[in-house]
Amino acid sequence: MVGLSNLLTWGAIVSIVAAAAIPEALPPKGPKPPKQKCGKILKRKAWHKFSNKEKKAYIDAELCLMAAPTKTNRPFAVSRFDDLIKLHQILADVVHGDGWFLPFHRLQMKAHETLLREECGYKGTQPYWDETIDAGNFSKSIVFDPVLGFGGDGSGPEYCIQDGPFASYQLNTGPGYKNIPHCIWRQMNDFLSSGSSQASIDRCMTLTTYADAWPCFENGIMPGDPKTGPPPQFFDSFFPPWPPLPPSAGPPVGAPAPGNGTLAGPPPSPHNAGHIGVGGEMANPISSPGDPLFYLHHTYLDRIWWQWQKKDLKKRLVDIAGYTSNFPPKPEEPGQGWVNATLDDTLDMFGIIPNATVREVMDIRAWPLCFDYE
Ligand SMILES: *[C@@H]1O[C@H](CO)[C@@H](O)[C@H](O)[C@H]1NC(C)=O
Ligand SMILES: *[C@@H]1O[C@H](CO)[C@@H](O)[C@H](O)[C@H]1NC(C)=O
Ligand SMILES: *[C@@H]1O[C@H](CO)[C@@H](O)[C@H](O)[C@H]1NC(C)=O
Ligand SMILES: *[C@@H]1O[C@H](CO)[C@@H](O)[C@H](O)[C@H]1NC(C)=O
Repeated sequence: MVGLSNLLTWGAIVSIVAAAAIPEALPPKGPKPPKQKCGKILKRKAWHKFSNKEKKAYIDAELCLMAAPTKTNRPFAVSRFDDLIKLHQILADVVHGDGWFLPFHRLQMKAHETLLREECGYKGTQPYWDETIDAGNFSKSIVFDPVLGFGGDGSGPEYCIQDGPFASYQLNTGPGYKNIPHCIWRQMNDFLSSGSSQASIDRCMTLTTYADAWPCFENGIMPGDPKTGPPPQFFDSFFPPWPPLPPSAGPPVGAPAPGNGTLAGPPPSPHNAGHIGVGGEMANPISSPGDPLFYLHHTYLDRIWWQWQKKDLKKRLVDIAGYTSNFPPKPEEPGQGWVNATLDDTLDMFGIIPNATVREVMDIRAWPLCFDYE
């Protein structure tokens, strides 16, 4: 061995070591799985551009999902619609306030679209709510139409929605981490919805790395801002401890922000404004998929991420950053220490659709996503 090493240059040693390492790095022997390709690319479009027939088909498919029994059989899950709420509720701590936020929700939207199509006969695609049209004016939006929409604001002691196709639906997951049968509830606030403006998107679009961009899209945090997000009193109404049921009083439409009246305005966050402008279930970071509008909102946000990626596609198809669990409002370091998100991380879908890696959800036009935005 001594003689042999004398004959070798440093470069050769490196290449021998590298060669020896290669078999370990390769996947186990056997036929290589074929590289999966998309068949049809599904074109997603805005709810505002749906025909009446398309709206009806989407709503009918959602009602079908709500009536279908759970298949994941997670505790307290009753319907197939619950399966997707449970996914979000149980994973809430690892899919918000971190690098997985946008990839996870992109895949969850795909899961919803897939269930509508494969289990409820829906032929269309997942629509998005173009919230820039309705910013500052959510209560007048056509998405709240009582017939061809999601029904309007909540009222009464529990702020239950009063009309529309989902008025009588009973949720079994939520509010928050609880599992209490309750209605779909809303407390719309036009003032808070103003954060959905085009200006709030444009602000984030100027950021050039994922590390800078996702905190802006999610929480309106700009580079250099303290990583605590909006002032804490802004979230008084919906951060833990959760009220067991909707509070008995809340701000009427158009009222100033909740909290202590010290806010000049909602932080311009394309993600948060949609949640808190609708309020109720939607304003709950844990159980918000209980309001079917969640899927139009997060598809809207997904499109914003895609528009950002397209501005420098080659680079941004592989740009991921952030941790794999929350930073504040959960400031304590996890037991294993903060772990960086990578392209090879698995996004858990609870078997609803197959898991995918972060890498696999970076390009919406590639397998397994196979969709695009009009
Ligand atoms: C809200 O809509 C009304 C009626 O269309 C309009 O008069 C008003 O200017 C809008 N407000 C905002 C903030 O866009
Ligand atoms: C807001 O009001 C609550 C309840 O009155 C109080 O506990 C809290 O400290 C106040 N927050 C701020 C920032 O003033
Ligand atoms: C995690 O990412 C940060 C920011 O890019 C970097 O400084 C740090 O070295 C990374 N940590 C590990 C363990 O890779
Ligand atoms: C999906 O991912 C989760 C988390 O990594 C894992 O526990 C689960 O076994 C995976 N499911 C499948 C079907 O591979």
